[in-house]
Amino acid sequence: MCGIIGYAGDECAVPIIVDGLKRLEYRGYDSAGIAVFGKDGFEVAKQKGRLSALEKKLESTPISGFMGIGHTRWATHGEPSDINSHPHLGSTSKIAVVHNGIIENYKHLKERLEQRGIKFVSQTDSEVVAQLAERYYDGDLLNTVIKTTNALEGSYALGIMCLDDPDTIIAVKKDNPLIVGVSEAGNFIASDVPAILEHTNKVYYMDDKEIAVITKNSVQFYNMDKEPITKQLETITWSVDSAEKGGYPHFMLKEIMEQPKVMRDTIQTIIAGENKKVIDAINIKDFDKIVVTACGSAYNAGVVSKYVFERLCRFSCEVELASEFRYKDAIVDKRTLVILVSQSGETADTIAAMREAKNKGATTLSIVNVIGSTIAKETDHTIYTAAGPEIAVATTKAFSTQLVLLYTLAIKFSGSESLMDELKTIPDKIQEIFEHVDYIQKYAAACIGYKSIFFIGRNIDYAIALEGSLKLKEISYIHSEAYAGGELKHGTISLVEENTLVVTIACCERLHGKILSNAEQVISRGAKVLFVSNCKTEETDKLSLIKLPQINELFSPSLSVIVLQLFSYYVAANKGLDIDKPRNLAKSVTVE
Ligand code: G6P
Repeated sequence: MCGIIGYAGDECAVPIIVDGLKRLEYRGYDSAGIAVFGKDGFEVAKQKGRLSALEKKLESTPISGFMGIGHTRWATHGEPSDINSHPHLGSTSKIAVVHNGIIENYKHLKERLEQRGIKFVSQTDSEVVAQLAERYYDGDLLNTVIKTTNALEGSYALGIMCLDDPDTIIAVKKDNPLIVGVSEAGNFIASDVPAILEHTNKVYYMDDKEIAVITKNSVQFYNMDKEPITKQLETITWSVDSAEKGGYPHFMLKEIMEQPKVMRDTIQTIIAGENKKVIDAINIKDFDKIVVTACGSAYNAGVVSKYVFERLCRFSCEVELASEFRYKDAIVDKRTLVILVSQSGETADTIAAMREAKNKGATTLSIVNVIGSTIAKETDHTIYTAAGPEIAVATTKAFSTQLVLLYTLAIKFSGSESLMDELKTIPDKIQEIFEHVDYIQKYAAACIGYKSIFFIGRNIDYAIALEGSLKLKEISYIHSEAYAGGELKHGTISLVEENTLVVTIACCERLHGKILSNAEQVISRGAKVLFVSNCKTEETDKLSLIKLPQINELFSPSLSVIVLQLFSYYVAANKGLDIDKPRNLAKSVTVE
């Protein structure tokens, strides 16, 4: 989704803002722009396409100033174009605005402003904010921002500058993330930490309906009644390196390779860290059922956890897509533990599901990667994955650490503490899988011609087949679907023909014979099979085996997913695709 950065300080703002926008690229965008406070007013550069296109524009028509705001736009209202890119200026060019979110009542506001003769230039909902702020402007920017935001419905993170206030950026948010960074060389606003980590690790996390007034020497927070408020300054422990590629061709590969480390770090938080305290404080006897709700890969982690919770705890566990949960009038009450899983902690549907669950009286527990995010702050209990910043749009290490925490909850709730020793072996076993990267790479290189690839598995292997299939389609643009092995005969097998590829996951030893016979059924119809298994199986010219280390069946998704991630990565790499920023996708889906 859109990314925002703003800077007020002693240094030239343009390179700092461009660099910050590059670090927000992972959020997904289709155009970008900057406005700085120049000698004679606002200087603006906006460009459809990648940041490199904006940089080219800036080379040919430079702009400069010591204060400015920048934006990467992911189109929601109005096509990606130079005009629709942010920052947006009001008609008198007095106020400049960058916006992340959706202004739901923009049509109504726009009509009202148009009736008063104000001419809009873009098709965006965001321009309404700049136009309205100019209309309300009374010489006091803080007043104006309060009045303007009071008129807005929907979600927003806003960075606002005014021609009469050459020193000040105002930031305000509702339902979209925004942080304020402080440093000796100036102060920042940003959608996320990586954008400013090179300059500072001291940040304030803004809450909804808080306003930050930023100059190069000061940061002051206010509530909507214009009363000053005090906020806690947080120190980020992520290193700058952890938000860089570190020699890998793509963030995704770097993040795949980081998995043993971040899983060890996450396990450590359960043994001795804050997470232990939070988990120990939850008494499963207070609940009749667990509902896990999330989006995308986080949902798939939830599907894996259903098998683990039910098997270990003998406890009913439902898994719901957050986008469905929020509108279905879910049957949850105070005897329900609702677990929200989210890397960003800002996914709009997951936030809505969380609020719905809370309204119904359920106890909410979140598994989140980003400290200070909305979900982390609003749930009754929060445990953090120690994945560090995840930049590639397609999640890998955040997913793996989510699994670690879900396994841990099931272990604790069921009192099967002895399984912790087995859990601790996962990182080393992933390292063993990395020894076969060359084979996976070679195999994937031969798969780039497939139009469609199926993934099958049974039981918990089916759960991870869902994630393998999602990963492949996200980054390689090859059509893919995942099926439970037993469902094949109910339709899907009609799609199998000569040279279809069926990736078969077979880590449930007790179901090995069953899934092997599914593999044979597709082979006898001409398919090729990539068999990902910890059981011994004979290789043939139609069946290739990737052998996994032995592990308790319930933890096996943590091993098989590594092969599936690497497979997808190398298929996409061999197709020469933009792996870290796949088309049409965003890392953090902060609008519905
Ligand atoms: C996007 C990302 C996925 C992620 C999903 C949920 O679709 O590309 O990788 O799984 O959002 O995001 P969350 O931040 O809530 O985990």
